[in-house]
Amino acid sequence: MKPDLEVAAADVNRAPARPDFADRRGGKVLVKSYGCQMNVYDAARMADVLAPEGFAETSELDEADLVILNTCHIREKASEKVFSELGKLRQIKNARRAEGKEFRIAVAGCVAQAEGAEILRKQRAVDIVVGPQSYHRLPELVRLAADGPVIDTEFPTEDKFDHLGTPSDDRIRRRGVSAFLTVQEGCDKFCSFCVVPYTRGAEMSRDAAKIISETETLARAGVREITLLGQNVNAYHGRGESGGEWSLARLIERLARVEGLARLRYTTSHPNDMTDDLIRVHGDQPELMPFLHLPVQSGSDRILAAMNRKHGADDYLRLVEKIRTARPDIALSSDFIVGFPGETSEDFEATLALIRAVGFASTFYFKYSPRPGTPGAEIQNQVPEEVKAERLARLGELVEAQRRAFNLALVGRTVEVLFEKRGRKPGQIAGKSPYLQMVQVDGPDHLVGKVAAVEIVECGSNSLFGRLMSEIEPGSGAGEAC
Ligand code: SAH
Ligand code: SF4
Ligand code: F3S
Repeated sequence: MKPDLEVAAADVNRAPARPDFADRRGGKVLVKSYGCQMNVYDAARMADVLAPEGFAETSELDEADLVILNTCHIREKASEKVFSELGKLRQIKNARRAEGKEFRIAVAGCVAQAEGAEILRKQRAVDIVVGPQSYHRLPELVRLAADGPVIDTEFPTEDKFDHLGTPSDDRIRRRGVSAFLTVQEGCDKFCSFCVVPYTRGAEMSRDAAKIISETETLARAGVREITLLGQNVNAYHGRGESGGEWSLARLIERLARVEGLARLRYTTSHPNDMTDDLIRVHGDQPELMPFLHLPVQSGSDRILAAMNRKHGADDYLRLVEKIRTARPDIALSSDFIVGFPGETSEDFEATLALIRAVGFASTFYFKYSPRPGTPGAEIQNQVPEEVKAERLARLGELVEAQRRAFNLALVGRTVEVLFEKRGRKPGQIAGKSPYLQMVQVDGPDHLVGKVAAVEIVECGSNSLFGRLMSEIEPGSGAGEAC
């Protein structure tokens, strides 16, 4: 998959927009996000970069003057969804036009990067195509779009993070007490099934000083929990606060000292970058929550080799043992792909065996989807759809049973919950346990943003239900189940 560099450069460098639209500032922007947490973070930053242009954020399609679809290319279904969505937006655009109103459509994210100009060919109503590394140029692209469609899928030399501005405290507060923060982007691992190295580009780590400053801004506005994001977040190796190179472990230790912050998490990690210092921090740093998403993809060494994962099933099991020695109560989660080309029933059984051996608290599982431009898609020995479906169902049963068992084991125990919002019913508030489970309790709204001890009394299908025990002083650190 080749980014549309030539088209991008040519289009962005076009003549300035017609003055009539260029002078009209703002309106309302709706950013709709698909895919991973990094897209959620990017969506918020897109709204931030458009705010000084007079664009207010909305979640209502009816109110929006500009809709940005922040897309995901990871599997065929995710990617195809964009075009059905665009069909609907086109109708809205036509209706608005008939009323003499403007309505702009932008496609951002990983489909934009992968398909570039092809998107405009497939759907002519699109005004802007912008890749994940160039969305800081949205203000300029919106102006240029007055003159016709624009594409920017460059991997620019400047750092987009330097151009995104700082959101107001109000904006941060509206987004809640738990926030995402991208610290690392891109991927150099080239797993043979995966589009990410092509859509997000090469691995890069942000400077620690900038991450610290963004964390302080968030914490000052009331954010209590930050999840550090990266496609390979544990490969983080950014410039330290006063020079040198910092690992993710070092960054976590520093961020844990930011005033007001109660909890830190990070995702997503690659087993090969799970270094000893990071494992140690899981044992030493109470602010780092005992939950780790560590995708392994398969339990078969043969398939892992074909996937270019550069680790075996035993390596993973040994790693899990090490992590559990450092932090015995850690909850583990993973991603699995079933039906990778050449996967036999023995390979699949090896995956089930690995899952049984580890015992996951939660798991994501997918049918292999051949992606254009990736080596996996070229392999002749593709697994039939019905075999993939059958394996997915079997794996699903096993991991769902593990999830239920993990949740049930918490009934009768007391855990610290960071309350994030009102609950489903009046008088309820909801928050997360250290192990990332949603917990609902009867309690007052003023506890939102606070950490409190909760006795778990019941386990529902998607949430745990608990009884409020006592509020824990902010800043006391949160973590271990009692
Ligand atoms: N960077 C992350 C993964 C990002 S993609 C990591 O390395 O862990 C999220 C998950 O999507 C992957 O872990 C994988 O399980 C799944 N995935 C990626 N490409 C896929 C494909 N072509 N078909 C099916 N699932 C895929
Ligand atoms: Fe994709 Fe592999 Fe990189 Fe994860 S490590 S983003 S699965 S190529
Ligand atoms: Fe999807 Fe791109 Fe994330 S392909 S999973 S949105 S990095």
